[in-house]
This record gives sequence, C-alpha cells and structure tokens, in this order.
Amino acid sequence: MTGVNQSQSVIPTVTQRVLLIIGGGIAAYKSLDLIRRLRERGATVRVVLTRAAQEFVTPLAAGALSNERVFTDLFDLDDEREIGHIRLARDTDLIIVAPATADLLAKMATGQANDLATAVLLATDKPVLAAPAMNPRMWSHPATRRNVRQLEADGIHFIGPNVGEMAERGEAGVGRMAEALEIAQAAAHLLGGPQSAPAGPLSGRHVVITSGPTHEPIDPVRYIANRSSGKQGHAIAAAAAAAGARVTLVSGPVTLADPPGVAVIKVETAAEMLAAVQTALPADIAIFAAAVADWRVTTSANQKIKKTKGSDVPTLTLAENPDILMSVAKRGPRRPALVIGFAAETEAVVPHAQKKRKEKSADWIVANDVSPASDTFGGDWNTVHLVTAEGVTSWPPQSKDDVARRLVEQAGAWLAAHQTEI
Ligand code: CTP
Repeated sequence: MTGVNQSQSVIPTVTQRVLLIIGGGIAAYKSLDLIRRLRERGATVRVVLTRAAQEFVTPLAAGALSNERVFTDLFDLDDEREIGHIRLARDTDLIIVAPATADLLAKMATGQANDLATAVLLATDKPVLAAPAMNPRMWSHPATRRNVRQLEADGIHFIGPNVGEMAERGEAGVGRMAEALEIAQAAAHLLGGPQSAPAGPLSGRHVVITSGPTHEPIDPVRYIANRSSGKQGHAIAAAAAAAGARVTLVSGPVTLADPPGVAVIKVETAAEMLAAVQTALPADIAIFAAAVADWRVTTSANQKIKKTKGSDVPTLTLAENPDILMSVAKRGPRRPALVIGFAAETEAVVPHAQKKRKEKSADWIVANDVSPASDTFGGDWNTVHLVTAEGVTSWPPQSKDDVARRLVEQAGAWLAAHQTEI
C-alpha cells in the first residue's frame, strides 16, 4: 500500500469552511501546515493574520497555501466593502485560532476588538477552537489560567498545548502548540464532518499509545537512551487508526514518519511522556509500547559538563522514573477499559512478563525477546507472546505491522465483547 492511499483511507474529512486566525508566535509556521492539512480534507480555508503573526509568516505564503485572499487589517476599506469583519465572522463553520498566544487569549477573554482578529472573534456566532502556544511560565501564570477558565466557560474549545521543548533554548514544559494534524482532527470532530475516521471495528473509540525510547538529559548535549526504534508502537498506532479509532500517539524521539491519521504528541523524557498520556486520557484502550528509561539523572547540568585534567570522572546520580503504564492501569474509575503493556526481556521472557502484568495491573502484556540475537530492537520483525489473565499465546514470528494488526484486532474484539463505553 502506498503512503498516499494509506493516508486517504484514514484521514478525517472536513467539507466545510474554516476561518483560521494566526496569532503572532513562533508556532505560526505550523499553522501554514495546518492550512494544507485542512484543505487536503476538503475544507475551504480563509486566513486572518494578526499584525504580530506577520512577523513570522507572510500573507503571501498563507494566500498561496489557502488559495484564498488573506485578511490582515480591520480598516482595509476594500475588505469592509467586499467582505466586512461581520461577514468574515459569520461566513464560516468554524474559527480556529492557532497559535492562540497569551495576548490573544487575554483579549478574547475580555472581549476586546481593536484589530481584525479580535473583532471577528467578538462578532462570531460560530464555534471557536483555540490552539494555545506560549512559554510554559506564561501558560501556568494565574492570569492565563484565569483567561482560559473564562474562555472555557464562554464555550471556546481548546486543543493542547502539548508538553515539549520550546523554541527558547533550554525551555521545556507545557506550552507547545498542538501539531497540525491534532488541530485538524479536533476541527473535524467539532464540525462533525462526514466522518472523522474510517468506519471499522474501533470506530468511536479513543486509543492512546506510547512509542519509542525516552531521552533523559545528563547535560544540554548528552542523554541516557535505549535502542528502541518506535517501529512497533508506531505500527500499532497506524493499525488502530486504520481500524477506525481516534488515536493519540505519544512518541519519544524517533526517526519515523508520523503514522497517517494519528495525532502525534512528541516528547523527550519519561516525565513528559507521563504528562502527555495523562492529558490525552480518557481512552478506551491504552497501549504502552514505549521503552521508557527506568532512570533519570537527578540534577541534569545546565551547561555541558567539562573534562577537567586531574580531577575525578563525574558521578551521575540516578532517580527512578515514574511508571507510566502502572500509573494508568491503577487509575481507578477513569482507567481505560483495556490496558496493554509490553515486556522487553532478554531472558525468561514469559515468566518475567507474567510478573510484570500482575505488578503493573495491566490486562495484557505483549512479551518480546529483545536480546541482541533476536534483532527486535530496530528490526522489522517481532516474536511475541500475549500474556493475559487467561494464559499465554505464543504468536509465530511476523512483521511488526502484522503484530500490530493482530493486537488491534484482538483488542477490538475484547472491547466489543465487553461492550464498554468511556
Ligand atoms: N513502562 C512505563 N513506564 C516506565 C517503565 C516501563 O510505562 N517508567 C512500561 C513500558 O512501556 C512497557 C512496560 O512498562 O509497557 C514494561 O516495560 P519494560 O521496560 O519491559 O520493563 P520495566 O518495567 O522497565 O522493568 P525492567 O526494566 O526491570 O525489565
């Protein structure tokens, strides 16, 4: 199957009009990709650029991608005659604000209307989806918290922000704008577009999947990692999307392309992966395929650690990372109906997996041999044993794509048999 066909079969579709308001932030470049993502789903996209946004993207680029006129100025007389801000606000089915900066959110929360973007937002009677993007400290500031609470009370929808690295060096936390695909999926959902995913055994279900390794920083240039490629987790995400699920893939650093039709949240560390998974819940199924680093360096250095002649080599003090699978599996009433973990083992594969299943309160464990001879890490094939409360089934060696399809098929059948709803 080619990439194009695959994406056509799983991409959510939008056949309506979207007005995209691009705010002034470094994430504005992602909004150019969002225009493309919305249009490939059949939406007509009109763009409003705030004055600050024009410092990051040009009206020319937005116009070329949207194939529509781009609006920038409230007092452009031509605009007022041809299409005033009231018409711009109403002749649409959805308004997306991306990036929604702290400043734009504050203006929206207080009903200001001193430029085209804010005037449109005040004049509209259509749903508004905001994708915030800002420095983590600005996002957690009490003023922004207040504004977001007010906007939520006013009926504004939010997507993100995600956890991750900021554009500013060394800054990380909650504040990265959601990826274009995530915003497009949320838009499709709000528009109730024909279907936000293909019909399949997992239609209407939400599946959260972790994939890849995590990187735990030692200093700004060094980190602790492992050999996971993310191939198995990404294949499961693709299979779940193809089975009709809404899929959130929380991925550590990998070199793989994002699976089509999947919302991908990119993280680096175990702590970020945990936060992203918690934000993504609730879900019907959670599958933990990531090879999460078990330990992090307690105090990672702010500057590169230097060799000093004659002095001792540095000692790294490690602390245990949170167990993401266990924290979700023991979650209580909001626990996903089916929680599936993996067990990467180099010996006594099944007994270790059985122990892990019980200790971590997982429903199923997919146990795989990751000893060097198995070629599992980084390879395209996998030999797994499915460990459940009922027993162990050993699957014949097969491609990671086939393992993914079979696992998704069995998870779908389990959910159907148990008829659970979140
Ligand atoms: N896992 C997790 N968070 C961690 C460690 C592991 O969510 N901090 C999940 C993995 O994604 C996998 C399962 O727990 O689904 C088992 O991971 P594995 O690396 O096999 O086992 P560990 O718990 O790390 O135990 P050990 O390293 O002792 O084998």
